[in-house]
Amino acid sequence: MKDKSMTNLLSRIRVQLGDTYRLVKENLQVPLDFLYDAAIYSRWSGTFSWSRTQRTLQAYIIRMYHGIEVGLSYPDPKPGFGMKTVNRLVSALEKYAKKYQLDFFCKIALNVLQSYVEFNHKLGIEFENLNRRLQALHKQVPAALQGETGGGYINIKSTDIFLPGEPGFAHVIATRHSFRQYTSAPVDMAIIEKAVQMAIQSPSACNRQPVRVHVLQDKVVRDKILKLQNNQRGWRDQPDKMLLVTSSVEFYRESRERYAPFIDGGLFAMTLVWALHAQGVGTCCLNLNLDRAGIRRLKKAAGLHQADVPIMLIAAGMLPEENTVAVSTRRSVDQVMRIL
Ligand SMILES: Cc1cc2nc3c(=O)[nH]c(=O)nc-3n(C[C@H](O)[C@H](O)[C@H](O)COP(=O)(O)O)c2cc1C
Repeated sequence: MKDKSMTNLLSRIRVQLGDTYRLVKENLQVPLDFLYDAAIYSRWSGTFSWSRTQRTLQAYIIRMYHGIEVGLSYPDPKPGFGMKTVNRLVSALEKYAKKYQLDFFCKIALNVLQSYVEFNHKLGIEFENLNRRLQALHKQVPAALQGETGGGYINIKSTDIFLPGEPGFAHVIATRHSFRQYTSAPVDMAIIEKAVQMAIQSPSACNRQPVRVHVLQDKVVRDKILKLQNNQRGWRDQPDKMLLVTSSVEFYRESRERYAPFIDGGLFAMTLVWALHAQGVGTCCLNLNLDRAGIRRLKKAAGLHQADVPIMLIAAGMLPEENTVAVSTRRSVDQVMRIL
């Protein structure tokens, strides 16, 4: 009898010790894993040097030229806009040409710069120095890439995008673009609700469904939040609806799930975008890449909980019959897929 109660006590202590050990280990694991992530990010991202590796330099180039092609797709691009970005981009291309060989995305960057020069030429603005530097770069493009035409902007008709009836999924994927020109027509709340209903079907880790959609109806709140989002000046008032997608850390535990809110949130947001597009509503994802102070301000403005994780904003609006969008040239399958 005595032996039995001793064994029970020992086994309870063992369980208790095991639980305490796991608790201490997890609590240490969270900061250590974040430190590890921070170290990887500092070491390999373009944060401290945008030209650290070929990939960071390529990403810098894509980011710069995308800013220009997006600028060209705006409702009313200003003559000579973005000269700082243009100069940075050309310097980055010159650096790339010196270190490596100009590649596919460098050629796309040159095409975008050509569109930029032509756009300004039509308005009577000439750039002699820029043209000289571009010509020198063009000469360094490998012969196999000379014919690449991607980049810049295209004009598209809404009748080519939105088919009557229920469009097939392939059509929805093929015709979705980030739109930056909208009409003032309202988007029916029933459409938004249906899109959210469809997005609820998104997969999430263990089906915990951490994502929430906040429709920014109040103009003061919307403006406050858009002020934090510094990337869409010039058209922020156009889309009728602005959706804030958030996730929450409250649904996850242990260090290994530290990025799960972003993954589940991203998947949900993508489905939401497709669901809106399939119903004839144009969209544009808007980043919420904020620092700590920005996140705090966002949480305050939107009345979010401390545990909420901002994923992105989605601008949603009705489209004019004709629209201009950035081409946003994509990588090829062999660059993206690896068999091992
Ligand atoms: C998370 C995320 C954030 C984005 N942020 C912005 C943004 O702040 N401003 C903007 O004009 N476009 C933004 N975009 C749109 C991208 O520029 C666009 O998706 C990309 O160039 C591909 O073009 P497409 O959407 O027309 O196919 C964002 C897209 C994503 C997925």
